[in-house]
Amino acid sequence: MIKIAPSILSADFARLGEEVVKLEKAGADLVHIDVMDGHFVPNITIGPPVVKALRKETNLPFDVHLMIEDADKYIDSFADAGADIITVHVEACRHLHQTLQKIKSHGLKAGVSLNPATPLHSIEWVLNEVDMILVMSVNPGFGGQQFIEISTSKINKLKNMLLSKGLHIDIEVDGGIDLSNIYEITKAGANVIVSGSTIFNSPDMSRTIKDLREKAFR
Ligand code: DX5
Ligand code: ZN
Repeated sequence: MIKIAPSILSADFARLGEEVVKLEKAGADLVHIDVMDGHFVPNITIGPPVVKALRKETNLPFDVHLMIEDADKYIDSFADAGADIITVHVEACRHLHQTLQKIKSHGLKAGVSLNPATPLHSIEWVLNEVDMILVMSVNPGFGGQQFIEISTSKINKLKNMLLSKGLHIDIEVDGGIDLSNIYEITKAGANVIVSGSTIFNSPDMSRTIKDLREKAFR
């Protein structure tokens, strides 16, 4: 089953509450929330108070993507704010194993994300701790960037690595996904698809989410 996780980075920030309500009506599976700190990535977005405010607007699970340094310090706040999945970057965590355990101690799903240049073996020894692996298919920081083509091979290699170990871990892909490439991405093994600009720039969100599902590999 493919899950569609629209990224509210491309939503109207002046109307975030309405935007998540629209996403729920449009058939999204998750709300992808991009948290950026201006250090790990060259952009600053939103923090726990905004997540907490949005929590009252929808029942959709919150997929919180932390592109921040020192994530450990903020896990409790994002958990209290209502996150369901918290994903941290392998490049930004000094004690990744411990951080993942901290996320799980709140009863949440733990995700780990890899930048385009980060090798898959960097997560080999935490595979038993994660519920989801997020493969970045753009360099994190901004929406609307172009999909880095070689990501497809990385997803496929990851899928095979998980299969060979008998692990059932979600593979999420984030950055530059649209109707033209969702097929190859899902065929390679991804099952959670983040999409920001494709969904929010379209005139009919609900239609676009349906189209993405239809174009995905089944
Ligand atoms: C990039 C973010 C993505 C981004 C996706 O740093 O993590 O979630 O908003 O946006 P699109 O789909 O426009 O590439
Ligand atoms: Zn993201």
